[in-house]
Amino acid sequence: MSKIATLEIDGKKYEFPIIEGTENELGIDIKTLRGATGGITTLDPGYKNTGSCESAITFLDGEKGILRYRGYSIEELAEKGDFLEVAYLLIFGELPTAAQLEKFDKDIKEESHVEEDMKKILDGFPKSAHPMGVLSSLTSALIAFNPDSVDVESEEEMYDAIVKIMAKFPVLAAWAMRKRKSLPLDYGDSSLGYVENLHKMMFAKPNKAYEANKIVNDALDKLLILHADHEQNCSTSTVRIVGSSHAGLFASLSAGISALWGPLHGGANQAVIEMLEAIKEDGGDTARYIDKAKDKNDPFRLMGFGHRVYKNFDPRAKIIKKSADEVLGDLGIEDPVLDIAKGLSEVALQDEYFVKRKLYPNVDFYSGIIYRALGIPTEMFTVMFALGRLPGWIAQWREMRLRKEPIGRPRQIYTGETHREFKPVSER
Ligand code: CMC
Repeated sequence: MSKIATLEIDGKKYEFPIIEGTENELGIDIKTLRGATGGITTLDPGYKNTGSCESAITFLDGEKGILRYRGYSIEELAEKGDFLEVAYLLIFGELPTAAQLEKFDKDIKEESHVEEDMKKILDGFPKSAHPMGVLSSLTSALIAFNPDSVDVESEEEMYDAIVKIMAKFPVLAAWAMRKRKSLPLDYGDSSLGYVENLHKMMFAKPNKAYEANKIVNDALDKLLILHADHEQNCSTSTVRIVGSSHAGLFASLSAGISALWGPLHGGANQAVIEMLEAIKEDGGDTARYIDKAKDKNDPFRLMGFGHRVYKNFDPRAKIIKKSADEVLGDLGIEDPVLDIAKGLSEVALQDEYFVKRKLYPNVDFYSGIIYRALGIPTEMFTVMFALGRLPGWIAQWREMRLRKEPIGRPRQIYTGETHREFKPVSER
């Protein structure tokens, strides 16, 4: 029997259906609330208690530390899958057959050129520009060169827009980095796999043959899979809400990149390394920084700790920590900043403040460490996150369009002035 929630306001009762997800999650369906109550709304800043959509893409249970894409556990996908097949799974709902994967790969490769005039736009940015800003702008600029990817309605048109952005996004990300390093722009090599090609586009030198490193490419592949989707987080919700106005995939993604940039979201991986470097410069006294993080009068937070949803452990952090240990060992890397990271997490994991608030190292605590070991510049860390999250954003945008979701438009509780008369400037 279906469950009902009853709400009583001023002695009057209203009933709302309780909907149940496939993992037995319950949600009160308040679609009729305002109509039934004559305009009463809900208030939930930060949406901690608000479900914005029904979705069949990613399931996560923050208490149990479970994360699954389309029903497959993140542990299994990270161990056995590769990024392109996981991208296909997220976007289209099933793991691809060999033929489907081959076609997806081929269609992406067909689109992996970027219009030469885009280089003029890149030229206009100062060399010091943050690559996330550059990536967001270039993704938006792609719209001008691909107008047919905007007004997409059919599944076929959506597919074309999807393979275009899957193809061009790594080129733009690599260009954003090469510009900062004064390296000539590169188009990669379509005989390589998706991740290897990305690495080559980022690091190939004009005067040296590119040498692939399996340890590096495997680690990158895993990192991209771990970041590929995370249900209705800040950037994904942004992509869905922008897309709900039918603005088009590339415009929605450009907004999502901006949302991801912030240090409380994807920007945390860069902030972690910057924090560790600052602690090192300051003498390496981790205990003092733990005290600062606990002090309510000090704005300092331990970056890479805590999560809105995971309150026991972040399953991605577990996988990535193991991978970080392996990669650092295999590459023979010794780095004092990594020792500080170790010391900091050991102390915080025992400290009552962190234990009581269930603050554990999140995925960004370790991803920054691996990116650093792989030779990726700090300011590119959040771009790496965006490269991983791309298929998740696409999948969520596609789902929203196929379900014909209405335009996203939250309500508010107005707390400003009530009506007042305008006074001419001479009377103010
Ligand atoms: N250092 C010190 N105290 C913290 C931290 C931290 N990193 N995170 C949370 N707290 C405290 C916070 O002060 C509050 O204490 P009290 O209850 O005494 O007021 C309590 O823990 C709950 O914090 P909250 O801000 O209400 O929790 P939230 O769910 O709104 O925020 C968060 C989650 C991730 C924004 C936050 O933990 C944070 O700012 N962490 C550091 C930034 C970071 O690593 N972000 C990456 C998130 S994972 C990648 C992603 O998905 O983008």
